[in-house]
Amino acid sequence: MPSVKKNFYVTSPIYYVNDVPHIGHAYTSIACDTIARFKRLENQQVYFLTGTDEHGQKVEKSAHLRGKNPQEFCDEVSLKFRELTKTLGLSNDDFIRTTQDRHKIAAQKFWEILEKNGHIYKGTYEGWYAVRDEAFYAEEELIDGKAPTGAEVLWHKEESYFFRLSAFQDKLLALYEAAPDFILPQSRFNEILSFVKGGLKDLSISRTSFSWGVKVPQSEGHVMYVWLDALTNYLSALGFPNEDSDLYQNFWLNTSESPLHIVGKDIVRFHAVYWPAFLMAANLNIPHSIYAHGWWTNEGQKISKSVGNVIDPITELEWIKNFGLDHETASDYFKFFLMREVPFGNDGDYSRLNLISRINSELANNIGNLSQRSLSMIFKNCNGEISQQNNHVRAIAETFAEEYFKAMKSLSFDKAINAIIGFATQTNREFNDLAPWNLKKENKIDEMNRAIYNAAESVRIIAILLQPFTPNCANKILDLLNIDASARNFSALNQMLQNGHKINEPKAIFPRLESK
Ligand code: MSP
Repeated sequence: MPSVKKNFYVTSPIYYVNDVPHIGHAYTSIACDTIARFKRLENQQVYFLTGTDEHGQKVEKSAHLRGKNPQEFCDEVSLKFRELTKTLGLSNDDFIRTTQDRHKIAAQKFWEILEKNGHIYKGTYEGWYAVRDEAFYAEEELIDGKAPTGAEVLWHKEESYFFRLSAFQDKLLALYEAAPDFILPQSRFNEILSFVKGGLKDLSISRTSFSWGVKVPQSEGHVMYVWLDALTNYLSALGFPNEDSDLYQNFWLNTSESPLHIVGKDIVRFHAVYWPAFLMAANLNIPHSIYAHGWWTNEGQKISKSVGNVIDPITELEWIKNFGLDHETASDYFKFFLMREVPFGNDGDYSRLNLISRINSELANNIGNLSQRSLSMIFKNCNGEISQQNNHVRAIAETFAEEYFKAMKSLSFDKAINAIIGFATQTNREFNDLAPWNLKKENKIDEMNRAIYNAAESVRIIAILLQPFTPNCANKILDLLNIDASARNFSALNQMLQNGHKINEPKAIFPRLESK
């Protein structure tokens, strides 16, 4: 049997460029980055894709409002999203834009396959459309004359191509039944199941009343519906329609636990209903899972442009830096808070006070303090050299690591972090109980070295496990511990610190957030 290749494809949604990035965009991308880093530490071959969704009425309208030509406008705003990936230190392998030729070619080819397979027909669309959501709504879905999301709707009547979505109802239900992990978490699965059971109408997939989109092949005046265009990005980034491309082979075909599409709860329907139906119609592989996360509020209030409480991730980073932190530490703190504060999948509240107390209690006072105290003792009292190697930490670490890996498997980032914190708390407690500073006074040098060894070995394991969440600071700790770059992945968890191993001069890694 050929060994199963562990290739892992994780994607964020591609973001509309109608406006600059906000915390919601940063959040989805950070979650993908955390997963990508985790899988790489497991020695998987990872491809992490993000990018921008640049067509459609919403973007065209925003460009016009600013007196710009749509392409010029998209170039400007897309750049802001790309810069954000750099500012946050995200590890994406590619950044796709739907206005790139590689994408337009793929989207048109995808259309041609759907058409050739008999799933597209021409008709007239008449009904409600919400530009803000870029979505069609049935009369019975409206609440007080608005979309269920609160978006304004307009009545449209125009010539349109349709996708025979109604023909896929049973196939989708069979897919959901066969693959209960296809839509996660469970609450979203139930929501989609009842939506599909309620009956599917054919979907309008082209527009004729504006022109900012991918042209429908051989059909003057029609541009592709922006969601059909956008969803195809997951394929075009892999080299589709060239099915021989290595990326396509590795990350669409020969991958067992992916593709994994991380999305917000508002866009599950597009990913879990339309997307698999399109793919089935094109006879292409279906993604492994769609995971929907919740939404952030700002200090308890719904985030909205009209209220004026949109959270800008760059402003938040600057605010954290103003406590006297370098950029790398500040971005780790921001990412840590978002992954830690709210169970992934739930809604949560962003509050600066909560960020300060999380960081101070869990990173600064707990892990930071442990690493600073133990490494300083080695440096000052033991010539920077490890001794008294022993197995004491191993069993304890295994229990916490098991909890961590189990949590990561279900993307329960908060629980994974909790396991690390639990381990650090226990190590701190033991260190205090053994009080190596007293052992030194009592001249119990072997005992002192043993206590220090246990703390340092725990810090090594903690830093390895922290890498997906605080990659900069975790690696700084591993640098202080003088751990080789090749010994920082999960398979090195058991490579205990050896007697005679020299560490570097310790520096404080997780500073407290304190107003000066
Ligand atoms: N362009 C589409 C996605 C196409 S994917 C083929 C889109 N873009 S978006 O820019 O409007 O939204 C991107 C993501 O940001 C969504 O997953 C959405 O859930 C997320 N968020 C928007 N506001 C949010 C919060 N307040 N909190 C958390 N995430 C939020 O949809």
